[in-house]
Amino acid sequence: MEPMLTFALAKGRLAEQTFDLLERMGIDCHEARNPGRQLVLWDRVQNIRFILVKPSDVPTYVDHGVADLGVVGKDTLMEAERPLYEMLDLGFGRCRLCVAGFPEAQAASVEHATFRVATKYPAIARRWWRSQGKPIEIIELHGSVELGPVIGLSDVILDIVESGSTLKANGLSVLETVCDVSARLVCNRVSLKTKRDRIRWVIDGLEAQVRENA
Ligand code: PRP
Repeated sequence: MEPMLTFALAKGRLAEQTFDLLERMGIDCHEARNPGRQLVLWDRVQNIRFILVKPSDVPTYVDHGVADLGVVGKDTLMEAERPLYEMLDLGFGRCRLCVAGFPEAQAASVEHATFRVATKYPAIARRWWRSQGKPIEIIELHGSVELGPVIGLSDVILDIVESGSTLKANGLSVLETVCDVSARLVCNRVSLKTKRDRIRWVIDGLEAQVRENA
C-alpha cells in the first residue's frame, strides 16, 4: 500500500474547486464532498485522507506535519508566516489584496497622530507599511472590514477585493494593490522528503489539470 497522504483543505469554495481537480486525477472525493459532521474523510483505495478546516488553520496543520499537503489562499499563507513549501498556483480563488479607503485617505495621517489600518491581515499590514517606513496603528477585525473607514474607525483598510462591489457599495476605492491572490498548494517540508514520490505524483497531476484549465 502506498504511504498515506493527508490533505488539509479550506472549507468552502476552495475545497470544492480542489476536489474538481483531484477527481479528474482519479482521486475519489465523494466522501470529502459530503462530510456531514465527520471531520476526517477518506479515499481508502488511494489511501488519501482529507481534513476540512478553517482557512487560517490550513497552514497550521501543514506546518505541524499532521497534514502533508494543503490548499489555501495566498493571502492566508502570507499572513500565517509559516515555513511551508509553496508548490503550485492552482489558478482559482483569484482576487487582489489591496489598500482601500476614501480617495482622500492617503493624507489622513495629517489629521491623526498615526495612520490607522483596519484589517484581517495584521502581519501583512505590518510588513507592507514597515517596508514603506510609515508608522501605522493596526486595528484587527474579523469581517466587514469596509466598515472601518465608513464609520471612522480607521483611515484605510487592507483587505481582499474580488469583484469590487463591497468597496463600491460603501463609497470606497482601491488606493494601492499589495499583491494578486489565488489558491496555492502547500507542502510540509519533512513530507516532501519522506513521501517524495507520492507528493510529486499529486503535484504533477494537479499541474496538468491546471494547465488544461488555463
Ligand atoms: C471578503 C472581503 C471583502 C469582500 C470582497 O469578505 O473581506 O469584504 O469579500 O469581495 P468583493 O470585492 O467581491 O465585494 P467576505 O465575503 O469573506 O466576508 P467578511 O467581510 O465577513 O470577511
